[in-house]
This record gives sequence, structure tokens and C-alpha cells, in this order.
Amino acid sequence: MHVDIDGGRLLERLEALAEIGPITGASGERGSARLALTDADRDGRDLVLGWMRDLGLDVSIDAIGNVIAVMGEGCGHRSGRAPVLCGSHIDTVATGGRFDGNLGVLAGLEVIESVLAAGLELRHPLGVGFFTDEEGARFAPDMLGSLVYAGGMTVEQAHDIRAADPGGPGPTVRDELERIGYLGSSPCPGSPPHAFVELHVEQGPVLEAEGLRIGAVTGVQGISWTRVTFTGQSNHAGTTPMSMRRDPAAALARIAVFVNDLADRFGAPQVATVGRIELHPNLVNVVPSRATFTVDLRNTDEVVLCRAEEELAAELARVAERHGVTVETECLARFEPVAFDERIVSRVEAAAAARGLSVRRMPSGAGHDAQMLARMCPSGMVFVPSIGGVSHNPAELTEDADLVAGCQVMADVMLDLADGGDW
Ligand code: GLV
Ligand code: MN
Ligand code: MN
Repeated sequence: MHVDIDGGRLLERLEALAEIGPITGASGERGSARLALTDADRDGRDLVLGWMRDLGLDVSIDAIGNVIAVMGEGCGHRSGRAPVLCGSHIDTVATGGRFDGNLGVLAGLEVIESVLAAGLELRHPLGVGFFTDEEGARFAPDMLGSLVYAGGMTVEQAHDIRAADPGGPGPTVRDELERIGYLGSSPCPGSPPHAFVELHVEQGPVLEAEGLRIGAVTGVQGISWTRVTFTGQSNHAGTTPMSMRRDPAAALARIAVFVNDLADRFGAPQVATVGRIELHPNLVNVVPSRATFTVDLRNTDEVVLCRAEEELAAELARVAERHGVTVETECLARFEPVAFDERIVSRVEAAAAARGLSVRRMPSGAGHDAQMLARMCPSGMVFVPSIGGVSHNPAELTEDADLVAGCQVMADVMLDLADGGDW
């Protein structure tokens, strides 16, 4: 069973959502900033929710603010079966592009609208969702909404997480859900879909470099986020001899270099990033009293990722000793590598090939909601090329033809899953 999606309608919706929280990149590129549970996120949610309702879908909002829309009675499916769900997120990092997350959600809407228009009779209904705080940029960990949906964290725990807002901890998840009107009543964990499929931009350079159109994603690498605080002594930058300093910024600098060298030493696919740094009091002529920063370590191999974490812990202790500072660490996120379901990976490959689109299997470097849904149902992902491999940047870009091709492949995979028997 097949349906041809309307690429123009998909691109129009992507444009309209990108208008909410617009930002401009260094060379005038158009990006989006909709940090989770801010006013901009609420406005984006309202727009997409309105589109879901316009299609007559049954929309539910759960206790962590995930929004799931499923074809209802009378929409051409036989009732009582779990939906074939797709979706992603519409929150962004502060320097977000227009496609990360948004593509998967709006492609889902497009697939459903096309299927409804064609009046297809399916064994399983189709659904599309957007999950709260996938980015983890405001509330750690990342993939928070889908983690709670899949039962990996309780709603109560998630509600108590505080925003990492500038100037110190901000309101809790629960406060913000209530404030923006998305504290829903559907229970978490959610009910398991029949299958989950997520279309996403690759956010890396591989597909473009190899001249390929589609990625059949085999899994997601493990993620380890740590917040480190070095505390020393604030003092005068001109009068304090170097030998008498307890300088947390110097300690931080050593760790930033250490993790970069660690990734080089371990080799690909190990990556390591110091992404957020805060010094206190952050003044030109003051040795800081405190340095707080994050370390993001990722690897597809859990054993190697654990070794990277151990090396980091040992180095933090050594560097703290050397600089006479104390060190505290907090785990912000820790997810093991996830392998997607072979039955979905092979369907993605087959669907791309049947449309004459070049395709390869590949792992994902970024975290995705599909890695959480994989805990509760067969899950998989479709990638489309990112020009220059740029993402988390307003310059993030994918060719229109690739956006449309990815949506078509997702439609074919979803219909195959919805039309087939039980597993
Ligand atoms: C989330 O999108 C991440 O990969 O950091
Ligand atoms: Mn994403
Ligand atoms: Mn992202």
C-alpha cells in the first residue's frame, strides 16, 4: 500500500513553524530558538497542535507535555490496534536550525494528511507526536519527554528538574508546563505503539559526502553528560602570585584540553565536548572562585564509553589537586547505546530502494526520541543529508528534495508497518 505525499505542503509547514522564535546566523541564515517550555515553545506547540486538530486527529497531552495525535474512529482504520507512531520534537537549542526535530513531526502530519485524503483502510492507525525537551538544552537530561513516555523516569522526578537558565537554576519542569498550558492529564508511561519511526536530518556530514539520499539508521551512540564544578579562591588578578592561586578556570582549561586529547587518543567514534562554561564572578581582573562546565562524551561502544568516563574522573581528581581546588560532579544524562529493530532498519532500506533513492545503513551521532521509544516498541529512523553536516546552528540546511524524499520514505515504511500483521 502506498500514498504519494505532498512535498509542497510539508515545506510550507516547515516554513511556518520556523517563523516562531526566529533567529539569524552569522551569515544571515534563518534559524529558530524555541528552548523547551518557553513562550516560543508554547507558540510552536500551539501551531502544531492546531494542525493536528484540523486533521481531526485524537490529540492527547500527557503529564510531561508530550503531545500525541492518532487517527480516530472513522479515519479508515480498524479500531483497537496500537498505532504506528512517528514523531520527534519541536523544541530547539538556543542556536537551533529549522529542521532538527521539526522535520520528523511535520513529516508525520504530512503522511497522515495524505493517507486520510486517499481514504486508505489500514490495520493499524497512524499517529504523530512531539516529545517535550528533546534537546535537554534547558532541562537535563535530553530526550526527557520520550524518556518519561517510555517509563525510564517517573513523572514526579521529571517535574522536579530545574531549568538551567542564565543566572542560575530557574523554574521546574512542572512550573513551566503549567505556565504554558501543557501540563496534560494522559498518564506516563504512555501506551506502547505498534512501532515507532522518526525522520530526522542527519546533522552530520556522511550522507552528503557519499552522495547518498537516505540513511537507514541502525542505532544511536551512548551519551554521557557530566556537570563539573571546580571551586577555588577568588582573588586579585594582579597581586596574587601564580604559585599562591587556587584557580578553577585554569583547572577547567586543562580538562577541556584533556577531553579533546582523549577523543583523539581513543579515535572515532569517540567524541568529547566541553559545551557550556560559567565562571564566577566572570570579571577581567579577578581570579574566579568557581568554574562550572559540562562534558559531553559519546561512543557507540558502551565499554569504551565507560573507559572514557573513568579517565575523565581520574583526571578531574588530578587536576583539582594540582590547582588546589575542590571538584564536584553531577551526572546530567547517561544513556547506553541503542540498536534499532532490524525489521524497521531493513524496511527503511527497502522503501528507499523501491523509490530509487540511494541508501546506506549508519549509526546516529545525535540523541533522538526514537532511542527512548525503542525501549517499548520496535523502532527505527530515517536520515536525510545535512548540507556541510552542520546542525545546532541556524545554518543547518537540507535540500527541499531530500526533505520530501525522506518524508516519502517514512510514509512508505509507516504504511508497510500499518498494513502488515502483528510482529
Ligand atoms: C540531542 O539532540 C543531542 O544529541 O544532544
Ligand atoms: Mn533532534
Ligand atoms: Mn538537536
